[in-house]
Amino acid sequence: MRIVDLIAKKRDGAAHTQSELSRLMDGYCRGEVPDYQMAAWAMAVYFQGMTASETAELTLAMAQSGEQIDLSPIPGVKVDKHSTGGVGDKTTLIVAPLVAACGVPVAKMSGRGLGHTGGTIDKLESIPGMRTELGREAFLAQVASEGLAVVGQSGNLTPADKRLYGLRDVTATVESIPLIASSIMSKKIAAGADAIVLDVKCGNGAFMKTAAEAEALAEAMVAIGSGVGRATTAVISSMAQPLGTAIGNALEVAEAIRTLQGEGSEDLTELSLLLAAHMVRLGGAASSEEEAMELVRSRLADGSALRRFARFVAAQGGDASVADAPDERLPQAPYRFEVSAEQEGVVAEIDAAQLGTAAMILGAGRAEKDEPIDHAVGLTLLRKLGEPVRAGEALAALHARTPAADEASRLVREAFRIVPAGTQTARSPLVLSIVT
Ligand code: URA
Repeated sequence: MRIVDLIAKKRDGAAHTQSELSRLMDGYCRGEVPDYQMAAWAMAVYFQGMTASETAELTLAMAQSGEQIDLSPIPGVKVDKHSTGGVGDKTTLIVAPLVAACGVPVAKMSGRGLGHTGGTIDKLESIPGMRTELGREAFLAQVASEGLAVVGQSGNLTPADKRLYGLRDVTATVESIPLIASSIMSKKIAAGADAIVLDVKCGNGAFMKTAAEAEALAEAMVAIGSGVGRATTAVISSMAQPLGTAIGNALEVAEAIRTLQGEGSEDLTELSLLLAAHMVRLGGAASSEEEAMELVRSRLADGSALRRFARFVAAQGGDASVADAPDERLPQAPYRFEVSAEQEGVVAEIDAAQLGTAAMILGAGRAEKDEPIDHAVGLTLLRKLGEPVRAGEALAALHARTPAADEASRLVREAFRIVPAGTQTARSPLVLSIVT
């Protein structure tokens, strides 16, 4: 079948066969299918959708389009975790050592931040000496010895997704559930995961703004997982406000360490424990959710997760003493100033995306791929949803490189909506649902 016939087939609402999808993806990677045909096909998918089995086949075709990591030398079930991206989301820094401390190996590839959301690799690089590029052998050896390695994406993983994602970005076809689901899952599968725990973020600071959208994406990804033999669980969690209190790389590492020390904020601790428990259960270290939760709680409480974090940092060349004294060992911004409430009341809304943008303007994130970032700067939230505040009291602290940060301060002030005490406000729970 010619490519034009494949486009017409999808335009008319029919389902592709596995060989048609392989032909399309192979042809695209080899440069035989031009961008204009791929763009037309993506738009047809946007309007017509894809069946669950088509989406799974597309995922495999993308996963197989480049290098695939073989984690089979590491014994046991290798469970990966993925967040669809939020503001202040530092759960990987907590969950990875916690899961490793429960005896489930974590061999993780993570990304860098772009726009208002951060990336685990940038956060880790705020630890003095920390290396996030390891050769394949060293990566596997570290997982064998420490039970944990986290590195940046390297090699030629999922080139079909890389090209297609770039094309979707400029052809208004990003917002297609089967295309998003296959894009995310292809990268996890190519990175060698046997099982996957997804944190699908939902709310103003996330890609998926409504619970219905988040649920549809979660269901599509879980269906792909079962279609390709990788057990997958999705936790749908609220991004109606940033997770925890810190936004910005070193600040988030410090908060993750405090959480591993048992002194984290309630929302961050709760979500980290839940994600870790699902990973531990899929990894076979517990036979029920209750048992898994008991195990992760005990490994957090007895300090073994914190010790595992320190070992992991040392193994990747970082200063392991951050685990004892994060505020002293991590880079600090030279200026700290507060943004205060202009009226008395209760915090009814926090625009997480806007706070992410404020942190980016301070230098914590990048507007364009490959821009340098400042690990020390960012924000600390001093009020969260539902908390009372008086006029003149601080809502957030800015950690800045410069003595003034007017634009970031304005964004932070405007990100908080304060209503008179006693006003009815809608609050979504931290965990909206779990899809298995
Ligand atoms: N993240 C991805 O990796 N792919 C998408 O298509 C959207 C978000």
